[in-house]
Amino acid sequence: MNAPTEHAAIARQHLIDPEICIRCNTCEEICPIDAITHDSRNYVVKFDVCNGCLACVPPCPTGAIDSWRNVEPVRHYPIDEQLKWDVLPDTTELDNFDATTGATGAGETPAEVKEITEVATAGHGGPALAPWSAAHPYVNLYSPATPVTATVTGNFRLTADDASSDIHHVVLDFGATPFPVLEGQSIGIIPPGTDANGKPHLLRMYSVASPREGERPHYNNVALTVKRVTEDHEGRPAKGVASNYVCDLKKGDKVQVTGPYGSTFLMPNNPGSSIMMICTGTGSAPMRAMTERRRRRMHLKEGGELLLFFGARTPGELPYFGPLQKLPKDFIDINLAFSRLPDQPKQYVQDLIRERADKVFRMLTDDNSYIYICGLKGMEAGVIEAFRDICRANGTDWDALRPQLLAKGRFHIETY
Ligand code: A2P
Repeated sequence: MNAPTEHAAIARQHLIDPEICIRCNTCEEICPIDAITHDSRNYVVKFDVCNGCLACVPPCPTGAIDSWRNVEPVRHYPIDEQLKWDVLPDTTELDNFDATTGATGAGETPAEVKEITEVATAGHGGPALAPWSAAHPYVNLYSPATPVTATVTGNFRLTADDASSDIHHVVLDFGATPFPVLEGQSIGIIPPGTDANGKPHLLRMYSVASPREGERPHYNNVALTVKRVTEDHEGRPAKGVASNYVCDLKKGDKVQVTGPYGSTFLMPNNPGSSIMMICTGTGSAPMRAMTERRRRRMHLKEGGELLLFFGARTPGELPYFGPLQKLPKDFIDINLAFSRLPDQPKQYVQDLIRERADKVFRMLTDDNSYIYICGLKGMEAGVIEAFRDICRANGTDWDALRPQLLAKGRFHIETY
């Protein structure tokens, strides 16, 4: 029945499942041909642009991206229709055709599709990988349709009273419901209520700031570092729905949580492994989790160095500034960059990275050192430029080194 003439007119349309998608933007960022777009509600794939290269599929934390329907090209699902979906359309009898032996959306054979996939991932320096000694993460245990209820057990302001930013350390307890997380993973929080269109609010993702055994060790809990959003990217006043909800939570409040998410931004576990951490603001959350994991194991004398570059406007704006000062100097090498100190030149993390070029180069080229960057998107380019210059000064080509770091699970970036 699957004669070529019968399904020559069938295309495989790439879709994104709106029920599972956590709107993390990974697919749109990674698509090499800009086939993915979004509005305030949904992420969608442009039928006419997508070439089925699959570059977006492995990095998707939930698998929402791996959704397909067989369609007649003239009757494909248009973007404006996809943007309105709350669920994927039902499958039709066209989906009974075996598209791996029949036609695909872009007309490739399966072998061609595979070849394009490999080229696409190689173009990004290889798929992201976790360190070889990372613990195995659990992911997607709870979806937006099946969230777990957590109870707030603490909510503390981390920034100074007179600081312009209001950053909170919020602890959530899962009681008897399993919620295993590793340092570097994120969880989703669904704010209660509905949006302007009367639809339930979408979840927002937050990095876990506590180590795997919990903020309160051996209790089933996680900590988050959340900044109250009071303005949009252009600096206009805007009240962030989720961040204000989380920052205002009281002890005993119940919260709907999804996740955990993330399987590559994970810390190495082998004794002697070193970690370079570069962050701004709430990008400190995963760094705090990793540092705390190592601090609690300090007595084991497992070795390995911790090198931290942390940027904030002033000391009062720097989350965890107090506890950081108390850590022993031989445990962690802390480099704080302050950008808005009175009578001081503006300093960014990349400036301090250049000042510490010798140590940074040694760690970049040491197979047992792992590098993590988390925070403002703008910082990423500055840090990469600093790495490039440091490598050049040492006779090494950063653009050749970077794919090697990725292939060894040694280079991890999460910026927003
Ligand atoms: P700035 O004072 O120039 O905004 P925020 O407080 O907005 O979360 O930012 C955290 C820190 O990151 C601030 O010190 C901020 O400096 C700094 N920052 C802003 N842009 C960059 C950039 N392109 N590279 C590095 N740091 C940056």
